[in-house]
Amino acid sequence: MNKALSRILVLCALLLQNDGVFGQQRHEAAREAAVYFDDTQHLWNKLHRALFERTTPTGAQFGIDTVDPLLWLETTHLLEGESHTRAIALLEDLLMDDGARDAPHVARALLQHELWSVFDWTLAPRPGSAQLEPARKALRIRLAKAILQLALSKAQIGALPDNYAQAAAAHAYPAANDSDHPGTPFLPADLFDVEGPWVSVADVRNMRPVALSHVEASSGRSNFVVLVRVPGPRTATLEFLEALGAANEPWKQLVLDAEDTDPHHTLPRIPVGTQFALVRRMNLISEKGELVPSPLTQSVQLRVYRNVPASFESIKQREEAQSSFEFVLSKARLRRATAGGLRAIDSEERAFVLFGAHAWDPFELPGAIPQQRRAQVLKRCVGCHRSPGVGSFLSFTRPFRRPRGTDAPKLQFGQPQQQADLTVQWKKKRRDWRQIQKLFDSDFADSPRDR
Ligand code: HEC
Repeated sequence: MNKALSRILVLCALLLQNDGVFGQQRHEAAREAAVYFDDTQHLWNKLHRALFERTTPTGAQFGIDTVDPLLWLETTHLLEGESHTRAIALLEDLLMDDGARDAPHVARALLQHELWSVFDWTLAPRPGSAQLEPARKALRIRLAKAILQLALSKAQIGALPDNYAQAAAAHAYPAANDSDHPGTPFLPADLFDVEGPWVSVADVRNMRPVALSHVEASSGRSNFVVLVRVPGPRTATLEFLEALGAANEPWKQLVLDAEDTDPHHTLPRIPVGTQFALVRRMNLISEKGELVPSPLTQSVQLRVYRNVPASFESIKQREEAQSSFEFVLSKARLRRATAGGLRAIDSEERAFVLFGAHAWDPFELPGAIPQQRRAQVLKRCVGCHRSPGVGSFLSFTRPFRRPRGTDAPKLQFGQPQQQADLTVQWKKKRRDWRQIQKLFDSDFADSPRDR
């Protein structure tokens, strides 16, 4: 073979190989965009992208297949220009389409929940923005209709898969924390075993959702279960909770300790090896317009106390004191039956901040480079759970959210279902719930159903 020919052959091989890499990337992107159906151009995939995808000025895309849409209080995306027109047009297409009745129940549930989160976002209180109200209303009217169109019956919602159990059964992650590999994500197989070491808690003093800040952040579209596991048998955790509840220190002293020292001397210390979990589950709206908790898990956060000093000498020490993990639901993975759709967030992974976030929209700041606004997800945890002692058990100290008239929580064993019921009660008092009910009522009047 002459030299020129062999060079051409090598070049061709390289090109083919590169195309292979790009082809692979294209394939990955296509799989991601195929949230609801394999065909990326399927109406439901297009609607998902219209509501969830955000694009930076340089064309980078974010938001596909995330748990929550990338929308902040001051966001104008979806409310003006092309993004608004597109969202309205796709919602109209959905309303004209009969496909919903034949679609898999899980897909109907997931898409309904997406539309509901955008609906509530249009009603979130924001100052001085009356000018965009007609656009918000136009979205709301169509979203409410589409939410009902996708709705399942109460029994169908109850029969949706328990994807947490699926994830645990898939053994994609270790079933327990391994102190030799403290940074390895684990998904406890026995998290909901009422005879196992994990204890789900209820606030028996105030009878409000334990994770009130999270319930509020999701405007009650999700319910949250807080679980505690102190080293040793289940009784050790029950005793720990009992001791916390017995502390008669006034709540005003249970403040988040900005100085890193643990002022809670009269409270029990958190034993090394203690683990906390926060499980987020999806609420749905039934075909009769009722609020119904579902078995679908949207995220799981876990914190493990590796050491519990009386105070921290450095930020590094603080960061090393706890291991933090988060699993999030990927709708595409759930559809492909990959480990219940729950995937662990990587230690370096970054995401836009939505919980405890600012009102401004990183995509809409002048001269914005939105990518730079993404925070390292697992590094943020100790920012809030910062105190070395029991002060970092935020469901107990509740530094951010203490409704008037409530006392320090008294946390005892309570079934997860109780948190779901309390969240439903909480949501029913919200303005966004009253508004959606009004729109449902006019819909029911158009096509009366048995309510
Ligand atoms: C912006 C503040 C904030 C950040 C950041 C944050 N949390 Fe929390 N977390 C809270 C609050 C507040 C609660 C208490 C429940 C409530 O009121 O919703 C909580 C509760 C929890 C609980 C239940 C046990 C407890 O302490 O009450 C776990 C587990 C948890 N968070 C894990 C995490 C993990 C893992 C991360 C990082 C991926 C994280 N959190 C990031 C504020 C935060």
